[in-house]
Amino acid sequence: AETEAFATRLLRWFDRNGRHDLPWQHPRTPYRVWLSEIMLQQTQVKTVIPYFERFVAALPTLPALAAAAQDEVMALWSGLGYYARARNLQAAAQRCVERHDGELPRDLNALTGLPGIGRSTAAAILSQAWGDRHAILDGNVKRVLCRYHDIAGHPGLPAVEKQLWTHAESHLPDARMADYTQAQMDLGATLCTRSDPACVLCPLQDNCVARREGRVAELPTARPG
Ligand code: ADE
Ligand code: SF4
Repeated sequence: AETEAFATRLLRWFDRNGRHDLPWQHPRTPYRVWLSEIMLQQTQVKTVIPYFERFVAALPTLPALAAAAQDEVMALWSGLGYYARARNLQAAAQRCVERHDGELPRDLNALTGLPGIGRSTAAAILSQAWGDRHAILDGNVKRVLCRYHDIAGHPGLPAVEKQLWTHAESHLPDARMADYTQAQMDLGATLCTRSDPACVLCPLQDNCVARREGRVAELPTARPG
């Protein structure tokens, strides 16, 4: 079925071409996945890696982060930018200690209620940390889906975003959710890039409507003027 083709082809591509050696993948604990997703929200992978390593060396667990001095957390974040992320991170850790026995809750709504965690980040954490079946929809995934399904309209518009969530959910595989989440990020970062995507190398090219119709360069639609 078409719905199978997307995930099956993407996972087969990921096995050969995806990133399998990222520090938060080894070991892939909920705390490490969460920290990496917050760092990756506005910062590229290669910049994040040394910050991630230093952070988990100094504060290896969620309770350690909750109990740390705020100055120490800010010093570990210093240079990464968007410092509200670090303050939210520690506030969320403290709330997990108070209300969730010192652990990240394994629940989409509970996670989404924590400071700094939106729906897509919550889904990225649940899928990678526990293999739970939730769709993500960050900027990379929006770009891929706008092209694959030939969806016009700025992807930040609520009506467009709603369509994209529906498509994202329709493609979910029955297994390998952690790999599938990482594979989507990797495809958007390495092949289906904003400008000049490498469609000839793309595992989705046979079913990509924008490619077939010659509209790849027009999608996703720019923010309305
Ligand atoms: N951006 C957000 N999460 C990411 C991840 N796990 N890998 C690469 N880029 C990301
Ligand atoms: Fe993106 Fe091209 Fe692949 Fe379509 S074929 S998903 S536009 S890289």
